[in-house]
Amino acid sequence: MTTSPQENTSVIAAQALTKIYQRGREEVRALDAVSFTVARGEFTAITGPSGAGKSTLLNLLGCMDAPTSGTLRLDDREVHGLDERARTELRRSTVGFVFQHFGLLPTLTVEENVVLPALFARRSSARRAEMLLEKVGLLHRRTHRPHELSGGEMQRVAIARALINEPRLLLADEPTGNLDSATGYSIITLFQQLNAEGLTVLVVTHNAVMTAAARRQLALRDGRLADGK
Ligand SMILES: Nc1ncnc2c1ncn2[C@@H]1O[C@H](COP(=O)(O)OP(=O)(O)OP(=O)(O)O)[C@@H](O)[C@H]1O
Ligand SMILES: [Mg+2]
Repeated sequence: MTTSPQENTSVIAAQALTKIYQRGREEVRALDAVSFTVARGEFTAITGPSGAGKSTLLNLLGCMDAPTSGTLRLDDREVHGLDERARTELRRSTVGFVFQHFGLLPTLTVEENVVLPALFARRSSARRAEMLLEKVGLLHRRTHRPHELSGGEMQRVAIARALINEPRLLLADEPTGNLDSATGYSIITLFQQLNAEGLTVLVVTHNAVMTAAARRQLALRDGRLADGK
């Protein structure tokens, strides 16, 4: 079988992605025909003013929402041609997601939070959880609960959790938005390290240091990409 180089390397291929929300009788065109590709190993920052459509785009890329029109290929598979079960499977195996507000479950320990997505995917994970907690510098906190951690530590646990199923793509929506600048810097450094190890990283950010750390910047405004492709 022959494949083009693009098919071998493209983690994200978005074609004319459009998302229209219905707000009462009003239509909100949150994304308007956005097209771009992300190659394996890229570190991309998505910037833009509030309301530009950044979270909407990330939710589509993370298969958490469906576009009104347009197509999305993740890892060379057309996301919305799949039935729901296959799409869930694709999301679990391909994408890790990190949120601004961390999203840890308060009643679970650090280690249980990290392992949780692997339980849903029916994968064994104890060793990998240990390795990831080591990588984010929190192995000594494995039995603690989230409320015993600082914001930066919670975000590092959330990053370890996002990586438990060995995704090819890490998506993050303002991951430093709730952190002071020094703590945010440690998250940026961690993303750089993960990217240097081969992980494809795409981050929505208002943080100038994060934007500079990414090797590629895409600017969204009024649901459209201002530059990039
Ligand atoms: N569920 C929804 N229903 C209706 N409108 C929505 C919904 N979600 C987002 N919108 C609208 O879509 C547009 C884009 O929103 P989005 O959350 O993607 O912006 P954003 O770039 O992430 O902004 P911020 O920087 O403030 O997080 C905004 O006009 C917003 O009000
Ligand atoms: Mg947002």
